[in-house]
Amino acid sequence: MLPRRWRLLLLLLRLRLAATSAVDQLTAGLLISLLTDLQGPQGGLSGSYVVNVSSWSAAAAAGYPPCGNATMPPWAGLSCDAANSIVGLQLSAQGLRGSIPAALARLTGLLAMDLALNNITGTLPAVWGGSLGGLSSASSNGSASISNSTTTNSSSSSGGSSGASGGANTAASGGISGGLRQLRLLDVSGNRLRGTLPVAWSRLASLQTGAFHSNALTGTVPDAWGSLSGLAPGRLTLGANGGLCGPLAAVLTRALALAAPLEGAAVGAAGAAAAAAAAAMAAAVNGTLLLQTCPWAESARLLQLLHSALTDRRGALASWVDGTDPCSATAPWAGVVCDPAAATVAGLDLAGLGLAGTLPSELALMGGGGPGPGQGGVLRQLLLDGNDLEGARAGPGVPRSGGVREET
Ligand SMILES: *[C@@H]1O[C@H](CO)[C@@H](O)[C@H](O)[C@H]1NC(C)=O
Ligand SMILES: *[C@@H]1O[C@H](CO)[C@@H](O)[C@H](O)[C@H]1NC(C)=O
Ligand SMILES: *[C@@H]1O[C@H](CO)[C@@H](O)[C@H](O)[C@H]1NC(C)=O
Ligand SMILES: *[C@@H]1O[C@H](CO)[C@@H](O)[C@H](O)[C@H]1NC(C)=O
Ligand SMILES: *[C@@H]1O[C@H](CO)[C@@H](O)[C@H](O)[C@H]1NC(C)=O
Ligand SMILES: *[C@@H]1O[C@H](CO)[C@@H](O)[C@H](O)[C@H]1NC(C)=O
Ligand SMILES: *[C@@H]1O[C@H](CO)[C@@H](O)[C@H](O)[C@H]1NC(C)=O
Repeated sequence: MLPRRWRLLLLLLRLRLAATSAVDQLTAGLLISLLTDLQGPQGGLSGSYVVNVSSWSAAAAAGYPPCGNATMPPWAGLSCDAANSIVGLQLSAQGLRGSIPAALARLTGLLAMDLALNNITGTLPAVWGGSLGGLSSASSNGSASISNSTTTNSSSSSGGSSGASGGANTAASGGISGGLRQLRLLDVSGNRLRGTLPVAWSRLASLQTGAFHSNALTGTVPDAWGSLSGLAPGRLTLGANGGLCGPLAAVLTRALALAAPLEGAAVGAAGAAAAAAAAAMAAAVNGTLLLQTCPWAESARLLQLLHSALTDRRGALASWVDGTDPCSATAPWAGVVCDPAAATVAGLDLAGLGLAGTLPSELALMGGGGPGPGQGGVLRQLLLDGNDLEGARAGPGVPRSGGVREET
């Protein structure tokens, strides 16, 4: 009698701890909803895939946890550590489409995430680099904004210890805060991602490999990425994006170039070969991958000159971010009027933005012509009403509206 009770108790305990723990259930639910977002309920674009919603759902329904049990391996596409924490997500070439999910940031124990060779769209989610406030929900659309989170009530997740590293992934907690700080390998190459490389990803301090090639990314590599000193030589790929341009952050180039000689000194000949390879790669990164000048660099420079001359009390110009295209398809700058065909700056509509200050005379160089000196063109539109600006009236070359002509 008693032994039977004990056995029952042990069975219940085992079910609770191994198969149907609340954390496992939450993690399973999160994973299935993420995969459903990415693959669609039909499961993939066409054909069949090793990783699919029906196999994950069947596993969950059978009470088989994502990291498996003593007799079953982890679900297809997952790898786990000894503590049953998910450390790897291998979803390359699995027919994924739709927006890249910001909610993947909840898998904070991830060491490797491979999403290569799919059809994933959207912009790289800044929250993967962590956010200070709570992200309100698991929005599956990549461009989750963290800028407004300080104004909202922070979620009640503050009590939960964010240092609980040993246990299961933090799928249970609502807010995303830490980001993917442990991530060593991130491969999103060969998709249809757009937008810029997020500045916040400079906090992915463990990153050793970052593969971003063959997408439709734009903008410059943020200077802040210079902190990614763990990136191994040759392990940052940015090619075949078309819109990526400008110089590689100087600090990052140095980090790539410096890593090898230090190794070389320690391990002799093999190290010297590695150093040579690393130097070649640094030169390649330096010389070919990011060779093109950003076509919008001069417009952006002039607009930032204007920005710095103005007091922007309401933050109306917060979208004027360094290293991004003022006429970007994904995040155009507020108040900048773009030529729809050429995607170049055609005017400014800053009316009613509560700006104050003195307009710099360089504004006359804006618009129209090419980036070279003396090629300043004509802004077709300049609307400045409803601000507290000087220079608009004072500068003879800068009328309140209409054409702006260079005067030098
Ligand atoms: C789903 O995955 C399982 C195993 O990973 C596989 O046997 C099955 O054929 C797949 N189904 C589809 C529709 O791709
Ligand atoms: C592992 O999970 C499978 C599927 O739910 C189950 O049949 C098996 O008994 C489990 N093994 C252990 C050791 O819990
Ligand atoms: C990705 O989507 C495009 C357009 O919908 C399609 O032409 C292409 O075949 C897809 N790629 C893959 C690998 O399925
Ligand atoms: C992101 O989500 C918001 C609201 O859910 C929606 O209005 C917006 O169109 C979405 N953006 C993209 C790129 O899907
Ligand atoms: C911030 O959030 C508030 C309330 O949700 C909203 O009214 C406001 O427009 C948001 N501001 C920005 C810059 O998104
Ligand atoms: C923040 O939360 C407090 C208490 O829950 C509530 O009284 C307050 O109205 C909230 N503020 C906002 C801006 O939601
Ligand atoms: C990078 O390019 C600059 C300018 O072309 C050059 O001076 C520098 O030596 C290059 N660095 C490497 C590591 O090739």
